[in-house]
Amino acid sequence: MKMIKEDKKVITRIKELKKKRNAVILAHNYQLPEVQDIADFRGDSLELSRIAAKTECEVIVFCGVYFMAETASILSPDKKVIMPDISAGCPMANMMTADDLRKLKKEHPGAVAVGYVNTSAAVKAELDYCCTSTNAVAVVNALKDKKDIIFVPDKYLADYVSKKSGRKLISWHGFCPTHVKILPEDLIREKKFHPRAKVMSHPECLAAVVSQSELVVSTSQMAKHAREDSTKEFIVGTEAGLIYRLKQDNPTKEFYLASERAVCPNMKRTTQEKVLWALEELKDEVKVSEDIRKKARRAIDRMLSII
Ligand code: 13P
Ligand code: SF4
Repeated sequence: MKMIKEDKKVITRIKELKKKRNAVILAHNYQLPEVQDIADFRGDSLELSRIAAKTECEVIVFCGVYFMAETASILSPDKKVIMPDISAGCPMANMMTADDLRKLKKEHPGAVAVGYVNTSAAVKAELDYCCTSTNAVAVVNALKDKKDIIFVPDKYLADYVSKKSGRKLISWHGFCPTHVKILPEDLIREKKFHPRAKVMSHPECLAAVVSQSELVVSTSQMAKHAREDSTKEFIVGTEAGLIYRLKQDNPTKEFYLASERAVCPNMKRTTQEKVLWALEELKDEVKVSEDIRKKARRAIDRMLSII
């Protein structure tokens, strides 16, 4: 009982401070339920980038991982972008440095460089095109006239996009340590338990998981599909946090997480208390240097002009 009262106090204080600071709270679909509950917008990487680009607020509180807050800062340089826990990084994004990409580009002169949004701002500055899980296939399909395409850093997303587009891609050896925990045998087991369920999975998953899925899309596209499809049961091959939103949106449908191991520790670092402290102290700020920002912005704008 006391706990509930304390939580209420935190939420009330967050609301007051949000108004006072003219702030907006953005949360990725993988955030803890308590964080999703206080967010003004929750969504996937593409949706959050679009909101960050057009918000009128002075402060963006980014509840997600570092590269997402950097992307918000690239798109909204005049806004103060703060993270409630700045140590929340993305291991996949950290698997490639700007030097790595420069070297790869040198090895493949003339190749166009496409990079997943899960990259640092310094890597984005070296890209020709950015993409997200929502539009990766569309971006590669738009490059019909290009002979060679570099696609980094996720080797599993590259594999998926290559199969879908029919293009051979020059990839990197990055991967998401959370999505690779979902194994093909997890899907075999869940399908046996829930034979009527439809399987949705994220393209960061292993190829043997993707090939067993009826739908391979981003987290918000999964949410859209769950709302619009008449199917009543879904097996969900992505990070555990999405289940909260799916159940909230569809109280009469059933959602089965493909693997209990699919939990991203970085996405769970942010809590309501940390959001409150961030609003109180207006930190920790994420700011990208102007030189990197301008170059990175080009790659993001090119993506946004395609889809
Ligand atoms: P979205 O592609 O749906 O944003 O989520 C994938 C992910 O792992 C984000 O880090
Ligand atoms: Fe990075 Fe994977 Fe976590 Fe997304 S789920 S933030 S890709 S480690």
